[in-house]
Amino acid sequence: MLDCNSKHGGDMKFMVIGGSHRQNSRSSRIARHIQKLLRDEDAVRHVDLLDLADSKLAFWDEGEVQEIWHQLSERLVAADGFVFVVPEWHGMVPPKMKNLLLYAGNREFAHKPCLIVSVSSGVNGVYPVVELKSASAKNNHLVFIPNHVIIRKAEQVLEAIEGNSNADNYLSKRLDYSLNMLKEYSLALKPLRHCAFMSPQQYPYGM
Ligand SMILES: Cc1cc2nc3c(=O)[nH]c(=O)nc-3n(C[C@H](O)[C@H](O)[C@H](O)COP(=O)(O)O)c2cc1C
Repeated sequence: MLDCNSKHGGDMKFMVIGGSHRQNSRSSRIARHIQKLLRDEDAVRHVDLLDLADSKLAFWDEGEVQEIWHQLSERLVAADGFVFVVPEWHGMVPPKMKNLLLYAGNREFAHKPCLIVSVSSGVNGVYPVVELKSASAKNNHLVFIPNHVIIRKAEQVLEAIEGNSNADNYLSKRLDYSLNMLKEYSLALKPLRHCAFMSPQQYPYGM
């Protein structure tokens, strides 16, 4: 068995995106926790955090692109991989998250890995995973990794995380495993982005 790539170093940058509209939402608290976990990992240089609750990005229309998008775009371009922490709202991904996906395209996302972490205060949370995996990467060529993490009963989980108890051991292990997988995909996909054949220019709108 070969060693994992990240054992041999790396210089990875990630962005964790909290997809809720609510201030200090459970999704943003979990996003902050994931930012800390990733920061502590070997071979990770920087972990940016984007909380969409604070974002002033207007809903997309055909008018002039706002300066705020140009700034945000550069932050997305800088990342080698993403974690989308998305709440389930009426069985859907919130509009600000979908709005970001309308703005961002190949320049920001093509051939970069993404881990989906969905958040439910109850016992659901499947729908954001299904929605994102089935219908949000056709044009931008974002690569959702095979694992996802669903955080159910999110308040209880957060109490355990923020209180440093090991009550959420089951979930912590899954999260650690999935973040490690994200790191490996990130290293593995990086060279692909410099391969001429992989350029999205030929089919910018996917298949
Ligand atoms: C508008 C709205 C719709 C919601 N719909 C669902 C739902 O369909 N399924 C679910 O499990 N939780 C639902 N919830 C509860 C969220 O799971 C809960 O707010 C959780 O904390 C994640 O959202 P947050 O990140 O905004 O805190 C809903 C919450 C809001 C505000």
